[in-house]
Formats: sequence, C-alpha cells, structure tokens
Amino acid sequence: MINPERIAHPEHPVLPIIKERYSPYVMNGQAVESEKLLSCLEAARWAASSFNEQPWRYILATRDDTEAWNKAMNCLVEANQDWAKNAGVLLLACTKKTFSYNGKPNRVHEHDLGMAGCSLTLQAQAIGLHVHMMGGINHASIRATYQVPDDFEPLTAIAIGYADKPENGDPELAKRDTGTRERKALCEFVFGHSWGHSAKQVL
Ligand SMILES: Cc1cc2nc3c(=O)[nH]c(=O)nc-3n(C[C@H](O)[C@H](O)[C@H](O)COP(=O)(O)O)c2cc1C
Repeated sequence: MINPERIAHPEHPVLPIIKERYSPYVMNGQAVESEKLLSCLEAARWAASSFNEQPWRYILATRDDTEAWNKAMNCLVEANQDWAKNAGVLLLACTKKTFSYNGKPNRVHEHDLGMAGCSLTLQAQAIGLHVHMMGGINHASIRATYQVPDDFEPLTAIAIGYADKPENGDPELAKRDTGTRERKALCEFVFGHSWGHSAKQVL
C-alpha cells in the first residue's frame, strides 16, 4: 500500500521507492512471504562495507513462529512493541565491532550495518513491503536472550511488514501515519568552504 499523504515531495528527482518509503506505525498483521523476506536479506547481503567485513548479523523472527516472535518482541521497548506487533518480520540487528582480518576495532561497523539496512529497506519497498527501524531496543535483553558474544553489539531492530491505511489502525498510531513528512533543506547539511556554510551547488 502506498500512503499518498506520506509520499515525499523532493525538490530534485529521486527514485519512486525513495519517495514512497516511510516508516509506518499502522501495519496489517499479515505475514511476509518467505521469498520476499529472502530477497530483503539478500539485498542486505550485497551492501558495501569497509574491507568487505560485512559486520551485520540479524536475529530473525517471523510472526508465524510464536515462540521466536515473542522472544524477539520482548527485546523491544514497550512503545515499539505497541505497533511492531503488527509487522510480519522482526530482525534484531547486531554488528561486529572488530575486523576479522586483524582483530582491530572497526570504526565504521555501525555505518556498515546502516548500509545493509538501507539496501534491505529499499528492496522491501520495491516489492510492496514496508520497513520501520528501531533504536528503541533493550540491548541487555538481546545480549542475554541470544547470548550475543562480546565482540558484537546489538544496535537496532527492523520491523518488516505490510503498511495499512491509517484509518484501519489504532487512532493513536494512525495519527503518526498522517501529515506531510518533513526534511531539512540541502543547504542545511551540505557545506562548502567551511562548516555551517552551505555549498554553493545547493543554494
Ligand atoms: C536507526 C533508526 C532508529 C529508529 N528508532 C525508532 C524507534 O525506536 N521507534 C520508532 O517509532 N521509530 C524509530 N525510527 C523511525 C524514525 O522515527 C523515522 O525514520 C523518522 O521519523 C523519519 O520518518 P520516515 O522514515 O517515515 O521518513 C528509527 C529510524 C532509524 C533509521
């Protein structure tokens, strides 16, 4: 479902999937087909990463596996459980903090996880799914529940599912799925000769 109210109004042309992507709070509780899920994970797999370390790791739970679903759901903060319960898939995303080839700290492991998450998100959007990322997770619970090794960091959770029309959802959640999506202007975050001064190309 494409929510017309949430479509971005870019000032320069971008791909339709970038315009149409948003992070829905109202999802319809439908399971995600396994071939679609695999395509999303495959997209993450082919993301770029520093030294091709591929530091991303995902703990996967699908809503048809009640035990796995509840286990993963309990690792989200309550405010996120309220809406994520209607997703079809939950991923608990972790990163490896060191390089495998020399054991030294990987300063960009979080960036790499973000790259993989972005690939996954756009793939999902292209095949009719929606993704809603979460920083609101209980790190200690994830670590303890899944025995995450010290060298890995639980960082985010990813809900994948089918967005629904806001009016079909809980009114409080529906409110969050309405209204225009806002962004900073390019001149606010693209700098030229010195910090805080917009690059001339974006003025
Ligand atoms: C890393 C990350 C963490 C986020 N954490 C949460 C979260 O814990 N709970 C939530 O409701 N939304 C969360 N979001 C969604 C953002 O609030 C949302 O992306 C932002 O408001 C922009 O809206 P849009 O994605 O619809 O364009 C998160 C997004 C990202 C990328």
